[in-house]
Amino acid sequence: MNKDLERWGYKESGKNLNSRITTHKNFAEKDIDAWVSKLINIRGGEKILDLGCGDGKQVLAFGKQLDRSGEIVGCDISKELLKKAKVTARENKINATFLLQSMDRPFAYEDEEFDLISSFFSIYYVKNPIKVIFEIKRLLKKGGRLFIVGPTPNNAKAFWNLHSKIVNKKIPQIALSRRARIHDIFIPLIKKYFKNVKISIFKNAIHFPNSEELIKYYSSSLLFEESSRSDKKKEFFLDNMKKEVEKTIKRNGVFDIMKEVYGISAYK
Ligand SMILES: C[S@@+](CC[C@H](N)C(=O)[O-])C[C@H]1O[C@@H](n2cnc3c(N)ncnc32)[C@H](O)[C@@H]1O
Repeated sequence: MNKDLERWGYKESGKNLNSRITTHKNFAEKDIDAWVSKLINIRGGEKILDLGCGDGKQVLAFGKQLDRSGEIVGCDISKELLKKAKVTARENKINATFLLQSMDRPFAYEDEEFDLISSFFSIYYVKNPIKVIFEIKRLLKKGGRLFIVGPTPNNAKAFWNLHSKIVNKKIPQIALSRRARIHDIFIPLIKKYFKNVKISIFKNAIHFPNSEELIKYYSSSLLFEESSRSDKKKEFFLDNMKKEVEKTIKRNGVFDIMKEVYGISAYK
């Protein structure tokens, strides 16, 4: 196997995650949270585990829908992000606990502890999908559900092609494989080991009104982060991206990135 392909994991920075979430909030055409909320159907007394919780976006959204008997656990490998998530949960009086651990490792919970296990934009970073899927199944109650959100293989395709043109290199195999991982690996596994699998696709354009906003977004992406080790080269890429985007904005008045994600629900 290509050595790169073993490097699935990555550590998100608080600054980058926050920057991308803010861009989506300000410039996305549709509201992903409204789409999720229709599909996920949280009930007040549920016990939820959110894998790859980051700075707590889902812990906050789901936690608000729980009553006093409900509980949510957020898990992530980033101390920095968990610290932020804890503060947000405390400030919003959410009944949440947090685990600093990789979802690749077994959890110290008994079997069948959770009603819902969710993972948003995270599960495709794991080393061993089948182990993770088995562990999720072990932790879910009978009739409990898994809910995953992550990219389709078409996510931001035109933008990735533009990036490739600018850096004058093919998109690295690791990035392509990560983007295709839900489709290629997780959906078949979930279909094999879970029941009532429902797959929805959410297409959402982000309309960038100017090149500054696009550059902010691009420079906080993993695609850009992995483009080179040299800061000088990266500056050159940013400059070129800015020029390309400005050409499009001059022509169309806006620059769009088309996001395309799966929402997958499945029952034990
Ligand atoms: C793109 S962020 C998404 C965060 C959050 N779910 C959201 O939607 O805002 C991906 C998160 O997955 C975490 N992560 C990556 N690999 C992980 C692993 N093996 N176990 C747990 N968390 C992981 C990262 O630290 C990061 O917080």
